[in-house]
Amino acid sequence: MSTHPVSPAPTSSAERVAQHRRYLMCRPDHFTVSYSINPWMVPSRPTNTETALRQWQNLYDTYVALGHEVELIDPVPGLPDMVYTANGGFLIDGVAYGPKFHFPERAPEAAHFNAWFAANGFQLTEAVEVNEGEGDFLLVGDTILAGTGFRSTGDSHREVGEVFGREVVSLTLTDPRFYHLDTAIAVLDPVHGADHGGPDHANIAYLPQAFDDASQAILAERYPDAIRVSEADGDVFGLNSASDGLNVLISPRATGFEAQLRERGYNPILIDLSELLLGGGGIKCCTLELRAASGELRGRAS
Ligand code: ARG
Repeated sequence: MSTHPVSPAPTSSAERVAQHRRYLMCRPDHFTVSYSINPWMVPSRPTNTETALRQWQNLYDTYVALGHEVELIDPVPGLPDMVYTANGGFLIDGVAYGPKFHFPERAPEAAHFNAWFAANGFQLTEAVEVNEGEGDFLLVGDTILAGTGFRSTGDSHREVGEVFGREVVSLTLTDPRFYHLDTAIAVLDPVHGADHGGPDHANIAYLPQAFDDASQAILAERYPDAIRVSEADGDVFGLNSASDGLNVLISPRATGFEAQLRERGYNPILIDLSELLLGGGGIKCCTLELRAASGELRGRAS
């Protein structure tokens, strides 16, 4: 590392390490906006399934090019939101906590996701409480950040804590545009937390205004080094991104966030999912992380 005579040395990306990821995605073969369950969805506005497929394919191809594994769940006719697989469950150490959707339009998706987890070697716990999977649950270190206010209930926060035996931190969303936690917080590096380093080791990014005062205070206290994004970047779903600890896939419209990521030594990769934003979803929404049992991971690595 070279010293810099004038300004402090920027964090070099060499300090950030890309971690292997395994994801579940669903082709938007049946994508359309035929109902409205969030402020982004306007059924009278036309959608283009071919554009959605092309943009989705680019996301898929980018993950594969980065060396990640991507599994696919079959799309089901009549379930246009199934492309947003992040809502299909929450998985840690080979255990899958199934979804239970808030809106009846998406309720039938749960059985499809649960069946996929069971058929693919995950130990499934079906949900009793209403929750929308990784849309509202984010793993940061050993802690589960859990969103409520619009979709997942507080009772599901207790349930997810029981299923995984981990600390759960409840956060309340207040702006209907940011109705899932993954629209307001991005986990940049779940391994290297603020505890392990100085300001260069920020591991989450978030939009403070999306939360109530108590939640803002919790976030400020726990993640003093976090990137706080501007409202403009939040508005274009900039936080709805996927990171492997080095490469961060973000919307090309989140230009301020892009610069913040570069300053911190991350490598932003711009992926346009404008068509899927018509359904109120972005990069993270289309991506569910499949965290295998740790033994299985070690097996794969060796
Ligand atoms: N139309 C979907 C819904 O409103 C979009 C889901 C976006 N997913 C997410 N993880 N934020 O449920």
